Amino acid sequence: MPFALSPERERELQQILERYPTKMAATLPLLHLCQEQNGWISDEVIEFVSQRLDVSTAHVQGVVTFYTLYNRKPVGKHQVWVCRTLPCALRGGYDVLAYCEKKLGVHAGETTPDGKITLRTAECLASCGTGPMMQVDKDYHENLTRERVDAILAKLSE
Ligand code: FES
Repeated sequence: MPFALSPERERELQQILERYPTKMAATLPLLHLCQEQNGWISDEVIEFVSQRLDVSTAHVQGVVTFYTLYNRKPVGKHQVWVCRTLPCALRGGYDVLAYCEKKLGVHAGETTPDGKITLRTAECLASCGTGPMMQVDKDYHENLTRERVDAILAKLSE
């Protein structure tokens, strides 16, 4: 079934298009808008973006596969990104990741069977001084301990 934006997001798209000199320049924000609505970037979304911006599907596909923030398959209701870059790693980032995997029963890149949480890894999220850290949806959680991870994951599973 073809993808279409909701009327509200369609209005947002018009505002986005007014801010950019070319339609192609709006590729990233339009993909974000689509992902907000659909949860992931399906082939139908790629086709939609291609048509709306008058660019090739290959261009859209290239953008989507370059940036890890775009989901190319369905994901959980919540996204948990554990930073694994050196400053966080030195402060226990890999322990946090292993602990999340154990608690959730999934490996990085997988979604819990109830569809609530997708566990992912991230490269530096610019919060190095407060590592180990992770991003949950749009929020940062810093100076993580096992107890803090327990509380965060418990809340997401409610
Ligand atoms: S290394 Fe983790 S936020 Fe920078």
